[in-house]
Amino acid sequence: MNYLKNAVKKVVPQKMKTKYRVMREKKVLKTSYNYDYKKFIGAISSNTEAQIESQLMFAAHSIEKGLSHENFRPNFGENALLKLSKALETFNSYGFSKSNIRYKIALSSLKNYKKYHEEQEIEPVHLNHIFSVDILNEVKLSDEHLSGTIFLEKEDKKDSKKKNFYEISQERTSIREFSDVEVDMKSIESAINISMKTPTVCNRQPNRVYIIKNKQVMETILNIQGGYKGYKLPAILLLVSTDNRAFVSVNERNEGFIDGGLFSMSLLYALEYEGLGACALNAMMNHTKEQEIKRILNVSEFENLIMFIVVGQIPDEGVKCPKSQRDDYQKIMRVIQ
Ligand SMILES: Cc1cc2nc3c(=O)[nH]c(=O)nc-3n(C[C@H](O)[C@H](O)[C@H](O)COP(=O)(O)O)c2cc1C
Repeated sequence: MNYLKNAVKKVVPQKMKTKYRVMREKKVLKTSYNYDYKKFIGAISSNTEAQIESQLMFAAHSIEKGLSHENFRPNFGENALLKLSKALETFNSYGFSKSNIRYKIALSSLKNYKKYHEEQEIEPVHLNHIFSVDILNEVKLSDEHLSGTIFLEKEDKKDSKKKNFYEISQERTSIREFSDVEVDMKSIESAINISMKTPTVCNRQPNRVYIIKNKQVMETILNIQGGYKGYKLPAILLLVSTDNRAFVSVNERNEGFIDGGLFSMSLLYALEYEGLGACALNAMMNHTKEQEIKRILNVSEFENLIMFIVVGQIPDEGVKCPKSQRDDYQKIMRVIQ
């Protein structure tokens, strides 16, 4: 049987073989996308505790970001507060435990919102009309240390190259506000060079890095991206992408995102090692926006946009950053005995 198969293979022209392979892959791709579709739509359309937790974090993080702004905008974030109120009410309507850490962080973000306003003798006008009396009472009793901001000194990054991995990884924090001092391209190249050691599937190395220095282009891209509103332009904007031509079968369809994610994390650590401030920015966007960005930056149609990274020097006077409290590591462990 195998002999016959091999004999047929030998006489069939390469063009036909490729055509057959593509036909087969297209069929598998359809089934796979259908599977992906169900897995994803199920996750985002269910009112599970995990889904509501994410809605809580989405809004609470937005408030933390507002609190960390160099120029505090009084009564900012009405939309985020409305979303947070809705998520808190939904969470409670399902009777989930109030000891849930994400629930506590959400309350804590509101406590800090109130505190930051009061410290500046500003009345936080949205709170009373958006949140119920019960929630406001819970906010009063909540732990303010679960949310808010942290302050980074310029000094903290001075000796980054002497730090060990534990220090680099634990002291890295997303920085969104930078000094006006330019970033030396040598540091960027060094960080990219360090990241080249990131593993990729079969060492196929699909990663690409676009280094955007032109301020006009940067502004256009960041406007399309939309997740960096209210900040001054950084010294450098990076875009990490992966080229799907590194992959050969349908089962590898998401590998570009895995390899790209790993590479991006290396890059963030490497930038930290170089003593630079950085923040990842999502490249989650509809295809129209993606195509617009690809057109502007001359990115191949076969590439996946993994993430943007703003890079700059730490301001001399230091910088406030959102606290971004993490879950306890044991929460994510699933031991299979
Ligand atoms: C893939 C990715 C996309 C992100 N997108 C944005 C973004 O669009 N805007 C933003 O301000 N922060 C963004 N962040 C930064 C996260 O908010 C931040 O990493 C998270 O809150 C944890 O805080 P830390 O980086 O200070 O530890 C992004 C982070 C990642 C990893």
